[in-house]
Amino acid sequence: MAYKYETVAADIRAMVASSLSPHQAIPSERELEATHGVSRLTIRHAIATLIDEGLLYNVHGSGTFVGSPTLFSKTPKLTSFTEDMKSRGHEASSRLLTMSREPASTETAHALGIPAGTECARLRRLRLADGEPIAVEDVRVPGPLLDIEEFTSTSSLYEVLADAGHEVYRAEQEIKAIALDEEAAHLLRVPLGTPALGVSRVSSDRRGRSIEYAFTLYRADRYTFQLAVTREA
Ligand code: GLP
Repeated sequence: MAYKYETVAADIRAMVASSLSPHQAIPSERELEATHGVSRLTIRHAIATLIDEGLLYNVHGSGTFVGSPTLFSKTPKLTSFTEDMKSRGHEASSRLLTMSREPASTETAHALGIPAGTECARLRRLRLADGEPIAVEDVRVPGPLLDIEEFTSTSSLYEVLADAGHEVYRAEQEIKAIALDEEAAHLLRVPLGTPALGVSRVSSDRRGRSIEYAFTLYRADRYTFQLAVTREA
């Protein structure tokens, strides 16, 4: 059975989704206490949970407000775009921009640990969440691992690779701030120079073989990364 605070939190979540805009105040603790017939402590617990989730934020002395609509997740798991969007409550889709086979550049070869000039499959895709463009992605997969003839705009790269026996197991990532250039800004339907999170990922399988070198540009106004950190070794 759900705790009372969870029921209240679910009600507030529904209220935010149906009738409140970002940065609008939610009803006061006193009002929520009256409408829900629960204690002030329960209301505070529910609000604290939603603040922790990033749905609400508090301004000392002014009240509690609806946060900006970033796609929020606290789980730093290795996921595909499709899985990542699903876990955030959104439906992923893609538009294929280009698909080719080309020799690895020095940079790609270095990232993947393969000789420069090795043929790689290259996919450039626009990634969408509930039909809204969220990211532009440029991925290289070495050698024959990916059959691009079979790849379509509805394919999940990680599923296709896993089906072919190349399951992504581990990845090294680097995240940096980037101002969107004209092409990416146009694709993402935002003004030129809008900030983005540029994520480079080199993924490998369980045996440590490189599977992909990807560069994804996420709209910084719609996507955040959250990492849990601890002092433990
Ligand atoms: C994320 C990663 C990419 C990866 C992609 C696969 O966006 N940053 O490195 O290629 O997921 O996503 P999907 O399996 O949905 O095609």
